[in-house]
Amino acid sequence: MDITRRKFLQLATTAGFLLSFGKVHAATNEKILIVYFSRTGEEYGTGNITKGNTAIVAEIIAQKTGGDIFEIKPVTPYPDSYEECKKIAGREKATKARPPFVGDVENFSQYTTVFVGYPIWYGDAPQITYTFLESHDFSGKKIVPFCTHGGSGLSSTDQTISLTCPTAKVLQGFEMRGATAQNDRSQAEKVVEENLKRLGLI
Ligand SMILES: Cc1cc2nc3c(=O)[nH]c(=O)nc-3n(C[C@H](O)[C@H](O)[C@H](O)COP(=O)(O)O)c2cc1C
Repeated sequence: MDITRRKFLQLATTAGFLLSFGKVHAATNEKILIVYFSRTGEEYGTGNITKGNTAIVAEIIAQKTGGDIFEIKPVTPYPDSYEECKKIAGREKATKARPPFVGDVENFSQYTTVFVGYPIWYGDAPQITYTFLESHDFSGKKIVPFCTHGGSGLSSTDQTISLTCPTAKVLQGFEMRGATAQNDRSQAEKVVEENLKRLGLI
């Protein structure tokens, strides 16, 4: 095989590899995944929303890092009614339910840094977040928890995630009020940027 043909084949193989295995973060060599759960409908402090607060933050992270994104969608969607959702969420928390989600991340093992996003429900991450965490092998991966909330902040969910994924390295997470994510785009972007800088990802 002549040199030009060999070089071409090498380039084609590399390009094919990158296409099928996702993007590598240029500055750090990290392969970034953003996994999140978020609800639409009637929400505390933000009225009736058509895009969830956590979804907005997840998308900003994806946009600024170039990472892949996966939404944890419940097989049985939560009701739009805030009161009805609270009832179900309360029951799920009390019974440590593990609600199933739709589909899955393709080739999860390729990722080195996984952002895990969720709203705070009753001072914790929604149980479906734990369904996802418990059904994937996080060994050797970095996890960055992030949440939106109505005032509770992270509520020690970073610690709960550490206990759930003991073989992962759980980095300092970050939080944002749901109303900020929903109504103040520039502040939301600022918070994400500050945290991505702290993590060395931008
Ligand atoms: C069932 C339920 C329980 C909640 N519990 C809390 C809570 O304990 N503390 C808090 O600050 N906010 C709480 N909230 C408010 C949400 O965390 C907040 O509105 C969040 O931004 C919603 O994000 P999402 O649109 O991505 O689902 C709760 C909301 C729901 C629906």
